[in-house]
Amino acid sequence: MRYFVTGARGQLGVTLVDMLPENSVFAINLPEYDVTDIETMRHAFDGRSVDVVIHCAAYTNVDGCALNPEIANLVNAIGTRNIAYLCAEYGATMVLLSTNEVFDGRKPYSYTERDIPGAINPYGESKLAAERYILDILERYYIVRTSWMYAAGGENFVHTILDLASQGQDIAVVTDELGAPTYAQDLASAIIELVDRAPYGIYHLVNSGNVSRYGFARQVLNLTGYSSLAIKPILLEEYERESCPPRNGILSNWAASSYGITLRPWQTALGEFLTNVT
Ligand SMILES: NC(=O)c1ccc[n+]([C@@H]2O[C@H](COP(=O)([O-])OP(=O)(O)OC[C@H]3O[C@@H](n4cnc5c(N)ncnc54)[C@H](OP(=O)(O)O)[C@@H]3O)[C@@H](O)[C@H]2O)c1
Repeated sequence: MRYFVTGARGQLGVTLVDMLPENSVFAINLPEYDVTDIETMRHAFDGRSVDVVIHCAAYTNVDGCALNPEIANLVNAIGTRNIAYLCAEYGATMVLLSTNEVFDGRKPYSYTERDIPGAINPYGESKLAAERYILDILERYYIVRTSWMYAAGGENFVHTILDLASQGQDIAVVTDELGAPTYAQDLASAIIELVDRAPYGIYHLVNSGNVSRYGFARQVLNLTGYSSLAIKPILLEEYERESCPPRNGILSNWAASSYGITLRPWQTALGEFLTNVT
């Protein structure tokens, strides 16, 4: 099996490239390959055989997307459309990485793959547009929604909390945003299993369980010697930022579990990450 990984220098991209056999993967990244430019991307496909494209490249700065919705649309939606056209042309299966932010967060319990999405911010809208391009263009696809991802070296919530703690800064975190923290290592393994043995379709892949942002931050500090450090609990409405996330961003891995693909509890994954990796 020959894989292309886009966004290969991002959190998930690096993890996938490390995990897949070295001679089976072609890593695609800026500045050489810009997903918004289909002719440049065609050079990556020309002359190379590819079975599966794992499309991780995205404009992932959620507040940046709110400030620059046209860039969010260009990179996340049009960039995905370009890759989908090329997958159709070159006969490759496509895996699109998507997000819990395609949902509005008003559901009182977890979202399954059968729930109807409805994004409430420009990042979510651009990723939902990306999903719709895939559904229109391809038959051989996996849409994989995940949430609150972290990896070694990445810009993520875990590192933000640890940076604030190490600098002795005040930490205030929202109590009314819920989700499932997901370790990139566990997600990458699950994606590889999915492509190996599950039928095409839409899947949610997150570490199991869920927590508030506040509870997530508390667990990070408790596991890293900062258990005595206080965190000020705040509400989303008190937190000034450009983008508003869905309050309930909890995904349930309903579809993947029916093919025996399950991810361990988020607390276990986070504990391993903080002990062995960070
Ligand atoms: N992180 C999360 O919590 C989370 C949650 C749900 C879903 N997701 C989705 O999962 C995927 C991977 O997330 P991640 O956290 O690994 O992202 P990331 O660390 O932000 O990496 C994104 C990668 O995309 C590249 N990229 C940006 N614009 C590009 C363009 N025009 N052409 C080619 N490459 C471009 C970036 O390159 P540079 O580094 O050079 O800018 C970077 O390598 C994304 O699709 C994201 O939407 C992430």
